[in-house]
Amino acid sequence: MGVRTRILLTFLVGALVLSGVLFFFTYTLTRSNLREREGELGLSNQLIAETLGSVRASLILATVITVLVGLMLGIVSSERVVRPLAGAADAARAIADGRLDTRLEPTDDPDLNALTDSFNDMVARLQDRVERDARFASDVSHELRSPLMTLAASVEVMLSRRDELPERGQAALDLLVADVARFSGLVEDLLEISRYDAGAVRLTRDELQISELVQQAVLASSMPRTAIQLDERCRETRIHGDRRRLARVVANLIDNARTHGGGNATVKVQPADDSAGHVWISVEDSGEGVPESDAERIFERFSRGAGASKRGTSEGAGLGLALVREHVRLHGGRIWVEPRRDASTGARFVVELPCDASSSH
Ligand SMILES: Nc1ncnc2c1ncn2[C@@H]1O[C@H](COP(=O)(O)OP(=O)(O)O)[C@@H](O)[C@H]1O
Ligand SMILES: [Mg+2]
Repeated sequence: MGVRTRILLTFLVGALVLSGVLFFFTYTLTRSNLREREGELGLSNQLIAETLGSVRASLILATVITVLVGLMLGIVSSERVVRPLAGAADAARAIADGRLDTRLEPTDDPDLNALTDSFNDMVARLQDRVERDARFASDVSHELRSPLMTLAASVEVMLSRRDELPERGQAALDLLVADVARFSGLVEDLLEISRYDAGAVRLTRDELQISELVQQAVLASSMPRTAIQLDERCRETRIHGDRRRLARVVANLIDNARTHGGGNATVKVQPADDSAGHVWISVEDSGEGVPESDAERIFERFSRGAGASKRGTSEGAGLGLALVREHVRLHGGRIWVEPRRDASTGARFVVELPCDASSSH
């Protein structure tokens, strides 16, 4: 039974008991009084019956009024009790959605203030903790950045004299080059993710022609010769977005097609099926595809599919798709993975972005 119902019932029962007691005593006292002094005052039986009748009628009326007033008071006070609870529930939901600066308004009720104070105190600590964690990741990545740059520069110097090294030295140098590149990528990704956590990402939005954007992104990816299929209707489509981040999105999906998807990618640009004013950029490969049970999970941080962990740790850290999703979300779009729409096996990653409606069809 809810708090509201319970309060209401309490008021109702209280009103009933009160008026019952009142009824009983008033009625019986009046009756015995009348009967006692019947002879003394010379009252007729009829007069007594009439008096008792009108006493009973007014008592019934009083009972009805008491019960109604009790009911009304019950409704009003249960509302008043429940209202702060609803406020607290709203605040908790806002906090869960990431609005950590949400606080409860202080009230003039000392009983409630204890709750409000400890709630606000808890949120303040939570906010502090979350911000400290976000700062930590970003501080660590910053600290790693400069020695990494030194390392990369030194490796560059060694690379220019690679021929002078003995064969085993050359092999070691190649490993070093690959690892330094991977490590720098990881640190950059961590830095970017911590910016998202701190809410510090500001998009530099430009008017972008989507065909051009995709071409550039493909050229900058690890498979610059990837085929692009551009739907006629999207030739002039423009989007309002951050060039660097959107290019990262496409390049990342192509990199994944290379490392996880068998290396045979196609990028398609077409109008969205069901939502006007949206464009789809999809990257298809001919690998094993992503099982439906993994379709959500692979977009989480540090999550790598079963296939990836089997191949050891020489590839990414599982941050790629997490970042891709943050980028896409900030552009007001969505991303998901599905099986390819033709009969072949393989994954199809679809990025849906809002575009200028006038140019999409
Ligand atoms: N094209 C693809 N085909 C199959 N699996 C994929 C594909 N792209 C991504 N995945 C799965 O999603 C996981 C997460 O991808 P990502 O976040 O880019 O991390 P990483 O590439 O560092 O492993 C990968 O480990 C892989 O298992
Ligand atoms: Mg990846």
